[in-house]
Amino acid sequence: MQQLTEALAWRYAVNQFDTEKKVPEETVEKILTAGNLMPTAYGLQPFAFVVVSDEAIKQSLIEHAYGQKHVAENSHLIVIAARTDIDEAFVSEYTARIEATRNLPAGSADGFKTVMVGDIVARTEAERIVWAKRQAFLALGGMMAQASLLEVDNHALEGFSPSGFDEVLGLKEKNLTAGVLLAIGYRSATDEWQHYAKVRRDLSDIVIEK
Ligand SMILES: Cc1cc2nc3c(=O)[nH]c(=O)nc-3n(C[C@H](O)[C@H](O)[C@H](O)COP(=O)(O)O)c2cc1C
Repeated sequence: MQQLTEALAWRYAVNQFDTEKKVPEETVEKILTAGNLMPTAYGLQPFAFVVVSDEAIKQSLIEHAYGQKHVAENSHLIVIAARTDIDEAFVSEYTARIEATRNLPAGSADGFKTVMVGDIVARTEAERIVWAKRQAFLALGGMMAQASLLEVDNHALEGFSPSGFDEVLGLKEKNLTAGVLLAIGYRSATDEWQHYAKVRRDLSDIVIEK
């Protein structure tokens, strides 16, 4: 599929994946790469992609997702986790990486660092996590688009308990908290949802021209 709009019209929130079909690892990597290439505010990328393919671990997540079986019955579950340690050291690591990547003299990104620290690090912990989760959703969008272009079915999920996921996946000790989920795989031939027409507003309802 070449066109993104065509791919997005093809995709739907799969209710039943074919659990026999696994997404090849190189395809999973392409999807993760798209998420990594998505822009984030300041470029800070305050998230991690936790790729869960272990069936037992996925099964143990169902109870933390209001019983939604498609967190387990898929090929891979990608948990986009927000960082909880957005401090000056985190920002400094980023500015040092900018300088190294672009062969800039040490300290040349210090002004940029001061802006980020004053804007993001200065927020409360709760505000920083909300901000980090917003960035996680950008990565989610990129991954969904890439998966669809590769004809890999995908289903985003926000209906879960972050604390339950953090516990099962050991995220707290990694300074992460689960932000949003992306189940990927291939639709089951018997998933009736694939036959339902897509429900979207007319563009004219949501586009405001000034
Ligand atoms: C951020 C996000 C969170 C969602 N959370 C859930 C969820 O917890 N459970 C669920 O069954 N569907 C969930 N969905 C699926 C949406 O209901 C679905 O994508 C929407 O109705 C549009 O339908 P479509 O994806 O088939 O086009 C979520 C979708 C997004 C984008």
